[in-house]
This record gives sequence, C-alpha cells and structure tokens, in this order.
Amino acid sequence: MEVQEYLKKAAQTVDVALDSLIPKQSTKPASIHKAMRYSLFAGGKRLRPALALAAAEACGGALEAALHAACAVECIHTYSLIHDDLPCMDDDDLRRGRPTCHIVFGEGLAVLAGDSLLTLAFEILAQAQPTSRYGIADFVRELSVASGSRWLIAGQVLDLESEGKPVSKSALKFIHQAKTAALLTCALRLGAMSANVTPSKLKALTDFGQALGLAFQVIDDILDVTQSTEKLGKTAGKDVKAFKATYPALFGLKKSRALAAELTEEALSALKPLGKKAVMMRGIAESLLVREY
Ligand code: IPE
Ligand code: IPE
Ligand code: MG
Ligand code: MG
Ligand code: MG
Repeated sequence: MEVQEYLKKAAQTVDVALDSLIPKQSTKPASIHKAMRYSLFAGGKRLRPALALAAAEACGGALEAALHAACAVECIHTYSLIHDDLPCMDDDDLRRGRPTCHIVFGEGLAVLAGDSLLTLAFEILAQAQPTSRYGIADFVRELSVASGSRWLIAGQVLDLESEGKPVSKSALKFIHQAKTAALLTCALRLGAMSANVTPSKLKALTDFGQALGLAFQVIDDILDVTQSTEKLGKTAGKDVKAFKATYPALFGLKKSRALAAELTEEALSALKPLGKKAVMMRGIAESLLVREY
C-alpha cells in the first residue's frame, strides 16, 4: 500500500474509533462535548495515531489492538493544541482550518475541553488489552510521562519562557524534543507495546521516534515561515511575530532544512532492526520531510 493511502485509511479507522469513544454531542452538558468534538474532528493529519498503528503492524501485531492507544494519544495531542492556541499561550485564532476552540466556545470552555480530552485519553487507554510483556499500568505510565511536566508540558513551559529571549542550540533542541518528539515517540511505543514488542525493537522505535519527532517540529517551524495560512490551516508567520525560539530563527531556513533531512536519515537508520516490516514507517518518515502542511 502506498503511504498516502495508508495514512488516509488509518485516519478513517481512527476517526470511527474516536467517534465511538467520545461522549456524544447530546451528552450533558452538551456544550463541553460539542467543543471537544469540534476540535477533535476538525481535520487533523492524525499522524500520531497512524504511527501507533504502523508501529503495531511492524511488530507483528493487529491494528485493532493498538486502536485504544492511538485514540488516547490523539486526544492528548488535540488537548495540547486547544491549550497551545489560548490567548495566554500562542494566542491563535485558526487551527485545522477552523476558528480555534476558544474563539468559537469562549476561553472557559476551551480550557475545559482541553482538560476533558486529557482525562478522557486515560479512560480510553485503560480499555486497551494488556499483553504478556506490558500491562495497563505500563501503558498509562508511558502516556502520562510523555504528556506530563517533564516532557510535553516541559516543552510548552520552556517555549513560553523563551519568547523574545536568546536561546542556545541545546535549549532549543530540548524544547522541541519535549513539546513534540516525546508524544510522537509515545505513540510509536504504545502501538508497539500493544503488539507485545521485544525490548530491543522497542528501543529501535524509540530512537526512530525521537529523531522523527524532532524533525517534525523543525519542519513545523520551517512551514510557519514558508507556507500560507490557507495551506497550513493555522496562521502562518506567527513564530516570528511572537519572537518564538525556532530552528529558522536560530539557524536560518537553509540550515534548518538540512537538519530536518539529517534527522530523517537518523530516524530511518534507527529502523534497521525492524527489517522489512518497517516499510510503512520508513515511507511515513520520508513523506513527512517533504510535507507542505
Ligand atoms: C501541530 O501538530 C503541533 C506540533 C506539535 C507541531 P500537527 O501538525 O500534527 O497538527 P494536526 O494534528 O495535523 O492538526
Ligand atoms: C505546539 O508547538 C506543540 C504542542 C502543542 C505541544 P507549536 O506552537 O509550534 O504548534 P503550532 O505551530 O501552533 O501548531
Ligand atoms: Mg506553541
Ligand atoms: Mg502554537
Ligand atoms: Mg508551530
């Protein structure tokens, strides 16, 4: 199967699963469930859940066994975007091609919709099937550590605290590893764990995720400079205006592109222990390097 077709199918599968796992829009209070669904079904790329499914399949597991993990990670990701867009954070009014959650529902409900997706993620993950190597507690620990104050939130904290200040290369690298690569790696690890992955393959996937996740955020920074708002579905050029710590700001566009390519190579070589089974993940990594949104 071709990469784009795989990603499209994965997104459809995840959307059906998410729809059945999230409270219906009519569930009381309707406003919060409407807000959660508004942001969740706004047309994200579903990259993280697709990686979870691809990792499970590359480890010889069934896609179905990884679905709860995939949906849980997408809930965390969407919550992080709703909060990232709030006026007290990046203050963005466009996301996934639509007005942001707080623009439509107000700040109070947007904060709560984020909170609800964050907690729902763990309710969903708790429904995953344990394997002989990994129990539910292992799944839960993975997701909470990756999304907590040492990783995703750490990255968001340092991202905010670095606005308008000079940052070192190593500090910038850590921000990007923490705010983006950690959850992306977590998606791969959870998918693989649902397939009862061996420790050595889990290590290979972790190395893959860390390099790919960093490349992904470097490219996100580049696209903010080079793409249009229409193409991105979020306001272009925001990073420069907000004096954000980004790769193009520190290294320039040319060097940033070279670094993204290097990191993608690093990611691809980390996949070697998985052999031919990693063909889809290899394809996904290559397609992300040339993505336009
Ligand atoms: C955007 O992530 C935020 C980052 C961590 C760069 P995506 O580019 O995956 O956003 P969606 O899910 O497709 O909207
Ligand atoms: C967002 O990084 C990272 C998280 C939400 C954890 P950005 O602030 O660069 O993401 P965009 O550009 O708004 O999607
Ligand atoms: Mg941000
Ligand atoms: Mg942002
Ligand atoms: Mg960005």
